Amino acid sequence: MNKGCRYGTHRVIEPKGTLPQPAQKLDNTMSIYDNEVLIDVKTLNIDSASYTQIRQACSDDAEKMKNMIISIVDERGKMQNPVTGSGGMLIGTVKEIGPNFPDRKLKVGDKIATLVSLSLTPLKIHEIVKLEAEHDQVDVKAEAILFESGIFAVLPNDLPEKLALAALDVAGAPAQVDRLVKEGDTVCIIGGGGKSGVLCCYQAMKNVGPHGKVIVVEYSAENAQRIIDMKLAHHVIVADATNVMEVYGKVTAITGERGCEVVINNVNVPSTEMTSILITKGQGLIYFFSMATSFTKAALGAEGIGKDINLIVGNGYAKGHADLTLNILRESPEIRGLFEKLYV
Ligand SMILES: NC(=O)c1ccc[n+]([C@@H]2O[C@H](COP(=O)([O-])OP(=O)(O)OC[C@H]3O[C@@H](n4cnc5c(N)ncnc54)[C@H](OP(=O)(O)O)[C@@H]3O)[C@@H](O)[C@H]2O)c1
Repeated sequence: MNKGCRYGTHRVIEPKGTLPQPAQKLDNTMSIYDNEVLIDVKTLNIDSASYTQIRQACSDDAEKMKNMIISIVDERGKMQNPVTGSGGMLIGTVKEIGPNFPDRKLKVGDKIATLVSLSLTPLKIHEIVKLEAEHDQVDVKAEAILFESGIFAVLPNDLPEKLALAALDVAGAPAQVDRLVKEGDTVCIIGGGGKSGVLCCYQAMKNVGPHGKVIVVEYSAENAQRIIDMKLAHHVIVADATNVMEVYGKVTAITGERGCEVVINNVNVPSTEMTSILITKGQGLIYFFSMATSFTKAALGAEGIGKDINLIVGNGYAKGHADLTLNILRESPEIRGLFEKLYV
């Protein structure tokens, strides 16, 4: 058996010298190196920004969407959307474990969710079994490889697999909210009515306590109403977050001119960086979880209006993120019910 690199560089076909995530093409041969795990994949949860782009490009036609996903994976050896650059996650069953894979507790037959992005995971799709345009979970017959450095969660027994997958896909977001939001803070969650947004709202409401404020900016009246019904925010604004001055006006009407201590951006569309920046207090911070965020727009935009704020890139991994997120589903029957209705 060949020896692999901890970070999976042995799988990179081009460009040589890079790591699997930024690589153009990976070797998706499904025979493992000594430090890898082979997974029999059941379902892919395609990242929302990526899935939205695929839906739009295929005009919601499921057959065209299947073909587009197959052709991306054939070309790249991984499910990385060439437009958004993002991936998603998967669940499956462990088929084989290399002798030098470091986690000794993992066993063949365990059901796991990978917690590293599909944008760096070698994947071979044999067949797309089920794809519905409005659902970003795609059932497949496929195989995938987890590297030595790849994190994963063994699926819990008390939650349905696909429910856990839906939540784990965005587990980094509520975990970062838990780190960043303090008691008494004013927090704005842009795109707060979506999947990651709802989890962030729950965590933010918990952290700000009785003297803080949680404000949601949400595009559709339907998603906004959900937040109101579930009492997941103190204020809900229905607005298009790409419309900077409108959102700025509505948020500062609540917060006062200085804005929010913390802004969490959970949208799945581009061009909301300046809205986030404008509604953040000097010395405040923004967590850009959205994969549609432009680093250039955010960095130059903040500088351009003389705002000294912390801009945090949405690292999908935060220590303990899987447990924190699955616990939200256990603690909140409303959120669990919503996830079961919308995402499974
Ligand atoms: N950093 C990471 O590791 C990581 C991991 C997973 C996902 N992500 C990214 O996180 C983002 C959110 O993912 P998700 O799964 O939570 O997506 P989602 O469920 O689709 O939620 C997106 C939300 O944003 C709202 N929205 C869209 N356009 C808007 C606009 N112009 N103004 C205000 N709200 C708007 C949507 O409202 P409507 O439904 O009404 O359009 C929806 O409620 C995506 O960009 C995704 O790619 C990042």
